[in-house]
Amino acid sequence: MAFPGFLLALFLLSCLAASCCGVTFSSLQDTLIVTASPQPGQVLKAGEDKITVTWALNTSFPAGIDSAYGTIKVKLCFAPISQQDRAWRKTVDNLKKDKTCLHKIVAKPYSTSNNTFTWTVQRDVPTATYFIRAYACNSADEEVAYGQTTDSHKTTNLFEVQAISGRHVSLDIASVCFSAFSILSLFGFFFLEKRKAKASQTK
Ligand SMILES: *[C@@H]1O[C@H](CO)[C@@H](O)[C@H](O)[C@H]1NC(C)=O
Ligand SMILES: *[C@@H]1O[C@H](CO)[C@@H](O)[C@H](O)[C@H]1NC(C)=O
Repeated sequence: MAFPGFLLALFLLSCLAASCCGVTFSSLQDTLIVTASPQPGQVLKAGEDKITVTWALNTSFPAGIDSAYGTIKVKLCFAPISQQDRAWRKTVDNLKKDKTCLHKIVAKPYSTSNNTFTWTVQRDVPTATYFIRAYACNSADEEVAYGQTTDSHKTTNLFEVQAISGRHVSLDIASVCFSAFSILSLFGFFFLEKRKAKASQTK
């Protein structure tokens, strides 16, 4: 009866290995066709501009390849040029440790038909060069496949986001004007009140 025990140990070990190390990007199949509205090299303003993402299954794969797909998670990802010397954006094959795609765009139930989502670039998105990737996840929320708007080297069809911080000046001017206006109106009301008080006193 040593054999079943050995098998059980092996089974337990493989479970442990699976839960300890997570899914690797290199193990995923590129089965999704992902397209997005930004033109190559286009500069989008964070907090203002919108991105429309479309995704669908690449039908040249055998039918049923998508049988385990439960949800699609669309993410905004750093291009290699914006990862240089930035360990906090590093690409790691283990997806649990990967920092390539830090910004979530949307998560939706998987559907074979053409899927579209329009997203306003969030204000907290930093200035960088990006592409978009979609992961297909199974019911255990593990990535099983992907698709992206760039090639496998992440060099084509990239776009840029300009963060809000580069445009503080106009915001500052607006807030200074607003404060000046509030102070002036405060004095104005004070003055009017005084005159009113004086007027009622002289009556
Ligand atoms: C679909 O998948 C096939 C096989 O991997 C690939 O050759 C083809 O370029 C893919 N089509 C698109 C539009 O990405
Ligand atoms: C998705 O759209 C393309 C072109 O817009 C069309 O050729 C294709 O049949 C559509 N696929 C599905 C599954 O609806």
